[in-house]
Amino acid sequence: MAPQLFQKMLQKSNLRTTHENESFMNHVSDLLQGFPTLYSYGLLGNLVTGVQAAGARLMHIKLKQVKAEQLAGNTGGFFNIIGQLVITAWTGFLAFRRLIPIGAINSTYSLSYNILNSIAAFGPTLTEMRALQPVFDKYQFAQADDGRHKQQLQSSETAITLDHLSYRYAGAQQDALAPISLTIQPHAKIAIQGPSGAGKSTLLGVIAGKLPDYQGSIKLQNIELNQLAPSSLISRVLYVDQAPHIFNGTVRENLELGKTYSDEQLSDALAKADLLADVNRMPQALDTLVGESGKMFSGGQRQRLALTRAFLRMDKRSIMLFDESTNSLSKESAIQIENTFLSIAQLTVIFVSHQIHAENSSLFSKIITL
Ligand SMILES: Nc1ncnc2c1ncn2[C@@H]1O[C@H](COP(=O)(O)OP(=O)(O)O)[C@@H](O)[C@H]1O
Ligand SMILES: [Mg+2]
Repeated sequence: MAPQLFQKMLQKSNLRTTHENESFMNHVSDLLQGFPTLYSYGLLGNLVTGVQAAGARLMHIKLKQVKAEQLAGNTGGFFNIIGQLVITAWTGFLAFRRLIPIGAINSTYSLSYNILNSIAAFGPTLTEMRALQPVFDKYQFAQADDGRHKQQLQSSETAITLDHLSYRYAGAQQDALAPISLTIQPHAKIAIQGPSGAGKSTLLGVIAGKLPDYQGSIKLQNIELNQLAPSSLISRVLYVDQAPHIFNGTVRENLELGKTYSDEQLSDALAKADLLADVNRMPQALDTLVGESGKMFSGGQRQRLALTRAFLRMDKRSIMLFDESTNSLSKESAIQIENTFLSIAQLTVIFVSHQIHAENSSLFSKIITL
C-alpha cells in the first residue's frame, strides 16, 4: 500500500525526467551540430556553458527522481519490515504459547531478506549516478588551452605566408590540397577558384586553424599557425561557412550567439546581407523562432544569416574567409554583397568560389586557380 502512495509522485517525476532527457539530447545535438559555427566565431565556450546548463537541469531532475524512487522504495521496505516484524513477533508469541509449531519462525528469513533487499537497492542507483560523471568530464575539453603556452598575434597588420603548404586527410591516399606557396598581404582581396574537390575548402580550413596537422608552412606575422593561440587566431580570422548551422532559437539569438547587439546594429547588418525585409515579414520579426535546425529558413536565407553574423563581427583588422558563401543567392544579390566586403579597404578578404563573378573580378588583387 505504501508504494501506492508514491505512485503519482513517481509517475510525475519519471515523466519530468523523460522530458528533460529529451530536451537535454536536443539541446546537446543542436550545439554539437553547430560546432563548426561556434568554432568560427570563437564561441566554443558557448558549447561548454550550454551543455553544462542543460546537464545541470537534467541532473537536478534526475536527482529528484532518484530521491523519489528511494523514498518510495525505502518507505515500502520500511513497512515491509514492520509488517514482517509484527508477523514474526506474533508467530513467536504463538509458538511460545505452543499454539503453532516452532518452525513458523522461519518467516524471520523473509525479514532479513527484506532488509538486505532494500540495502541492495541503493547499489544500482549509486552506480547510475556515478556513471553520469564521465559524460560531464568529457565537456571539459573545450575549456582547455586558451593559449597560455602559445603565441599571440601582435600588430594588427597580418600578412599570411604559405610555403609549400599542403594537406592530406588521415587515411587518404593523396593530398586534398597540393603544395601551394603564396603571400597574402594585409588588406589584399584574394579570389580562389577551382573545380569541386580541388582543395578550396581544405585551404580555408587550414587558414582558419581547423586543420592544424598540415604539411609545409603557413605563417601569420611570421608565427607558424599551429603555434598560435587559438583565441588569437580567432580574434583576427572570421570564417564564413558554406553550410552555416542555425541554432534552435530566435533570429536574434542566432545572430547574437551569446553576445548582445542593439536592434539598430542587427537591422543594419541584416540590411547589408539583404535579409532585413525577410526578417521583418516573419511573425515576430527578430524574435521569431526559426525552428529546429532553422527549418523556417531557405538555403539562401541561411547563407544571408551567416553573412549577417559576419557583418556584425567583422572589424577592419579582420581576415575574412568566404567559402562559397554566396552560391545559394541570386546573382545580383551575391554580386552586391561580395562588393560590400571587397570595398572595405582595410579588410583582408579570401574569397573561395567555383566561379568568380566577372562583375567583381576587377576588385580582386589576385585570382588564384587551384
Ligand atoms: N574530411 C575529409 N576527409 C577526407 N577527405 C576529404 C575530407 N574533406 C574533403 N576531402 C577530400 O579532399 C579533397 C578536397 O576537398 P575540398 O577541399 O572540400 O574541395 P573543394 O572545396 O575545392 O570542393 C576532395 O577530394 C575531398 O574528397
Ligand atoms: Mg568546398
